[in-house]
Amino acid sequence: MKKRTFLKSILASSLLLGSLSISMNASAALFGKSDNEKVKIGFLVKQPEEPWFQTEWTFADKAGADYGFEVIKIAVPDGEKTLNAIDTIAASGAKGFVICTPDPKLGSAIIAKAKGYDLKVITVDDQFLNAKGEPMEDVPLVMMAATDIGRRQGEELYKEMQKRKWDIAETAVMAITADELDTARRRVHGSIESLTKLGFPAEKIYRVPTKTNDIPGALDAANSLLVQHPEVKKWLIVGMNDNTVLGGVRATEGQGFNADNVIAIGINGTDAKNELAKEKPTGFYGSLLPSPDVHGYHTAELLYKWITKGEAPNPTHLEVSDVVLLTRENYKKELEKKGL
Ligand code: GLA
Repeated sequence: MKKRTFLKSILASSLLLGSLSISMNASAALFGKSDNEKVKIGFLVKQPEEPWFQTEWTFADKAGADYGFEVIKIAVPDGEKTLNAIDTIAASGAKGFVICTPDPKLGSAIIAKAKGYDLKVITVDDQFLNAKGEPMEDVPLVMMAATDIGRRQGEELYKEMQKRKWDIAETAVMAITADELDTARRRVHGSIESLTKLGFPAEKIYRVPTKTNDIPGALDAANSLLVQHPEVKKWLIVGMNDNTVLGGVRATEGQGFNADNVIAIGINGTDAKNELAKEKPTGFYGSLLPSPDVHGYHTAELLYKWITKGEAPNPTHLEVSDVVLLTRENYKKELEKKGL
């Protein structure tokens, strides 16, 4: 090939490549979205250490991948961090956020701050309360069907106790409460309601409040109850989620109880995986798994549609009632079914 022809063909192909890349850029501008054009939403959770909330984040990201929006995930363990997070969200150009608040009483402050930035808000799991302590019904909410799931906890505990032919005379219920959180109050209430309906003596259902919604808080509460009832030989343990119930189980272990004389059933499922995977069974018999995947995906999807199409969530309140009992036998299969 002659030198000139060769140079010409290089020039021609580089021009062609050049024009190709120009047209690719043009079509990206027309059809795709660069990162700074993407819709952004915030997803703020009170306890990111709980696998429940990590699962919600994962599924919010899935919704983001499906619809092409970005999810900014921020941990908000207290009021100050929550209000700061709203500043961060607004500064990033996000148009709204999903939140599980660290304290329902922050509801009015969160809404006031969000309104100041024109941000849309959807609550997940825990409902906001106004200054009077009443639920803020007008703020969209996706949560678990707390009373029903609590009732199921009571039913399953009773069923398992009967299966083991325990003598009610030497059995009692430890109910670790967190009544200031409405969803927790409803779950425990539902559970106690089922147990008494099925015939468990109400006077042997002992309630004890936890100071914090984590294992150490529940462990302290349970220990204080156990010292008051040395006569009890067998325990059923009720609580609003896996960590609360796990705190109860750890406390009974400290007093020499084990899988033979404790039946505990948690709620969340995601946070019970390690316990159910233990080689030797513990008093933690199982956990009710609702739908953290749906909570995460659906709230993010609702918010995206609200932002982009102006469609506010309708209905404003959604209670997700699907629930499955995980035990040592089925937990792997059931979690896998949900992609967890
Ligand atoms: C509350 C609890 C969480 C989880 C969610 C589910 O926020 O603190 O552990 O159970 O409810 O709705």
